[in-house]
Amino acid sequence: MEKKELLHEGKAKRIYATEDETLVIQEFKDDATAFDGNKKGSITGKGEINCTISSILFEYLHSYHVPTHYVRRLEGNMMLIKKLDMIPLETVMRNIATGSLVKRLAFPDAKPLDYSIFELYLKNDDLGDPLINEYHAFAMGIARPEEIRSMYRLTAKINAILKSFMERRGLVLVDFKLEFGRDENGDLILGDEISPDTCRIWDRKTHKKLDKDRFRFDMGGVEKAYQEVLDRISNV
Ligand code: TMP
Ligand code: ASP
Repeated sequence: MEKKELLHEGKAKRIYATEDETLVIQEFKDDATAFDGNKKGSITGKGEINCTISSILFEYLHSYHVPTHYVRRLEGNMMLIKKLDMIPLETVMRNIATGSLVKRLAFPDAKPLDYSIFELYLKNDDLGDPLINEYHAFAMGIARPEEIRSMYRLTAKINAILKSFMERRGLVLVDFKLEFGRDENGDLILGDEISPDTCRIWDRKTHKKLDKDRFRFDMGGVEKAYQEVLDRISNV
């Protein structure tokens, strides 16, 4: 499948057209940003590692009948995906309190949550991706009630699947972010990526951070940590 014109460039990925108008190529960049793009950097090899991790996790989710945009892996840092009409929302699921939850609501850091927390954020850089609820999304005409219900149901299902997948590999799925879109039939499909850029993943025994927090907080060893996640999830 040939890469044609650039359709979209985000902070961590580029989307290219292909000769098939229902399919596009998702290319993962080594660029890293954090804190609404205020911190910028590059992590050598990140693009290809995240592309591989995302491919493995999308394929695993397919085995549980979770609809995703993933079609197949291409060479290097690229995958072939279905073209979706993306919904400008991010769903976040949290199993352990950390990050913005600790800042905003003073949860004790690293506290396992008795009830997992589902959150909705508006994807809007000018507004700093604010936390919203479903009524804001309905009022803004971004998503219909049944779509938000499906997003919630799929996010909870993905959490259950990936939590136990990670556990069996000595990893803890602390929290993660997902993005959804509509396919040509209007069906809701998981899009974007699932990688250490968009999930918090800790080693189960030592609680060593194996995700983008190493970049956010200048902890070093970012590429090594991402590679460690890849090595662990490659061993089925
Ligand atoms: P938070 O604690 O900063 O709100 O992040 C929650 C989860 O969502 C964490 O796994 C990182 C991920 N995330 C993104 O993938 N993109 C973002 O823009 C933000 C703010 C968080
Ligand atoms: N990726 C997001 C940004 O660059 C935020 C983050 O992950 O911390 O704004």
